Amino acid sequence: MAVNLLLGLQWGDEGKGKIVDVLTNDYDIIARFQGGPNAGHTLEFDGFKHVLHTIPSGIFHNDTINIIGNGVVIDPVILIKELKNLDKHSVDYKSKLLISRKAHLILPTHRLLDQASELSKGKAKIGSTLKGIGPTYMDKTGRNGIRIGELELATWKERYRNLANKHEAMIEFHGVELEYDLTSLEEDFFEAIETLKELTFIDSEEYLFAAQREGKKILAEGAQGSLLDVDFGTYPFVTSSNTTAAGACTGLGIAPNRIKEVFGIFKAYTTRVGSGPFPTELFNEEGATMAKVGHEFGSTTGRARRCGWLDLVALKYAVEINGVTQLMMMKGDVLSGFESLKVCTAYKYKGEIIKHFPYNIEPENLEPIYTEVKGWKEDLTKMSDKSQFPKELNDYISFLEKELETPITIVSVGPDRKQTINM
Ligand code: GDP
Ligand code: IMO
Ligand code: MG
Repeated sequence: MAVNLLLGLQWGDEGKGKIVDVLTNDYDIIARFQGGPNAGHTLEFDGFKHVLHTIPSGIFHNDTINIIGNGVVIDPVILIKELKNLDKHSVDYKSKLLISRKAHLILPTHRLLDQASELSKGKAKIGSTLKGIGPTYMDKTGRNGIRIGELELATWKERYRNLANKHEAMIEFHGVELEYDLTSLEEDFFEAIETLKELTFIDSEEYLFAAQREGKKILAEGAQGSLLDVDFGTYPFVTSSNTTAAGACTGLGIAPNRIKEVFGIFKAYTTRVGSGPFPTELFNEEGATMAKVGHEFGSTTGRARRCGWLDLVALKYAVEINGVTQLMMMKGDVLSGFESLKVCTAYKYKGEIIKHFPYNIEPENLEPIYTEVKGWKEDLTKMSDKSQFPKELNDYISFLEKELETPITIVSVGPDRKQTINM
């Protein structure tokens, strides 16, 4: 049985969590393939709002297995907090949450290193979530990391101490003022590790090979978005993993020829949290309205998200890189009431009109070129069928499908599970 992928096409927070939850009914297994607790995936149903950071978004469904794949980096302290929230809602995760032995651990000193690195950069900081993501992936590729499987060995604490000591020296090297109490951080860390050890660790690639042989339906869940990909995003203002489709192959051990559908999630406009270029960013009333109506505050850090018009040049790039087969448009409801909508369809780049996403998208080189379309006034949040959509929304959808040469198969009209319309 083939594997389907779901990933974000912009700078994250497109609404991946919501859609994974909606689609979970159709799957036996949901598997997160990269990132860590820098992610915040929001699910809303039955009047409750849940934010997941490390746990896959299928966890609220009784009959679905949820796998944290080898490509993910895990902070035990944050994961245990997430589990406590699930306890409050009587979610029986013990039988359905499985963790790859090859996933890497985020240590307290990784978080401190993240802070030290950002402080040392001053104005040029990445705007990291400070969850230790960069330093943990650096240790992974530098072949110094500690993996979940190592917790089953007696030697891991010695390796931990050596690595933490090295990190402390690296923090000092940054030469910034950073106050911390490592003993207290370590207390929380070791306590969380003990709880973590009560969960099931598996060789997740083997588990997934067997599941594929048995014809199980698997959905791979991405974190962040394509424009934050370490290779293809707006480097250096990116995260430290491959957020694009290839990341699902390396982050779960799924062969490329097993992947069938690639679901690309995007907002009907654009947001970005943290630093870095954003060609269609708005600094006016329109941007403020998107932020207000869309409640654009980060699910992980609470920071205000920057808002702007939809950028089809960037979106087309993301569609190509991921081989997107179906698009899902989120937060269409937020655009209700705009007289007209702008969509960026090309860039003026160093004086020339281009339609591709160039190496450098810094504002001094680049100016977005917009096509203006009519907006709609109707409130979409109560709609339950596409037949209720206003003409202007249908025109917007058709325009995007034509430009992106890919069908839009779901339109989301509100944060709740039920506010999801199949096209
Ligand atoms: P993720 O990281 O991609 O899972 O997205 P986040 O959860 O960080 O951010 C998406 C936010 O938009 C969350 O607060 C969702 O509850 C909310 N949301 C998702 N879909 C819709 C939608 O169609 N309309 C509105 N108004 N909000 C939505
Ligand atoms: P989800 O999965 C939005 C951004 C940070 C920062 C940059 C690097 O919820 O869509 P990092 O902590 O990875 O070193 O931060 O990436 N970032 C996200 N932005 N959504 C996310 O995840 C993000 N994860 C990281 O704001 O600009
Ligand atoms: Mg998010």
